[in-house]
Amino acid sequence: MLELLKRRRSIRFYEDKKVEKDKIDGLVMAALLSPTSKNRRPWEFIVVEDKEQLEKLAESKANGSSFLKSAPLAIVVLADPEKSDVWVEDTSIATILVQMAAEAMGLGSCWVQIRERQHNEAMSAEVYVQNLMKIPQSKRVEAIISIGYPNEVKKPIDQESLQYEKVHQNSYGVAFKR
Ligand SMILES: Cc1cc2nc3c(=O)[nH]c(=O)nc-3n(C[C@H](O)[C@H](O)[C@H](O)COP(=O)(O)O)c2cc1C
Repeated sequence: MLELLKRRRSIRFYEDKKVEKDKIDGLVMAALLSPTSKNRRPWEFIVVEDKEQLEKLAESKANGSSFLKSAPLAIVVLADPEKSDVWVEDTSIATILVQMAAEAMGLGSCWVQIRERQHNEAMSAEVYVQNLMKIPQSKRVEAIISIGYPNEVKKPIDQESLQYEKVHQNSYGVAFKR
């Protein structure tokens, strides 16, 4: 598991190759297996393989979403805020678990933040995605996960770069002993 965590990097370039159905099913299962506060399961997911929809999702934001146009697969992560006051945490957990499941399957992925981001000066990224995907206004959009076979090589995270100074022992300010 730690090796998998070290290996996971944000992958934004993908091979021109579809993700197999059994892998998509595995990713969906990972999302649905994710824990939620009070087991409320406020999230919903939209699996997107349609090229036109992916191209339009790539335009969600001025920066940080364009690579969705070359991804063979994306999963939009949304939630019903009426079902849970901590839907942001619940959707975030589901998102990272999908990313880890993708890594375990040899796929690359990247989180595309939608909540609190703008499409342009006049429209939020959330409203843009809601309109595009026909999501009811009562549902909130947290993120989009772009997924595909990696077409870039990134080094695993270097253990020496880990910020152990941010880890405290027993009380704040007492350095954690490694
Ligand atoms: C909450 C969150 C939001 C992010 N939003 C974006 C995004 O909108 N676009 C993007 O290209 N990367 C996004 N990322 C990826 C981060 O830039 C990336 O995880 C970070 O730079 C560390 O790199 P690594 O994932 O390769 O370790 C996001 C990551 C997180 C956790």
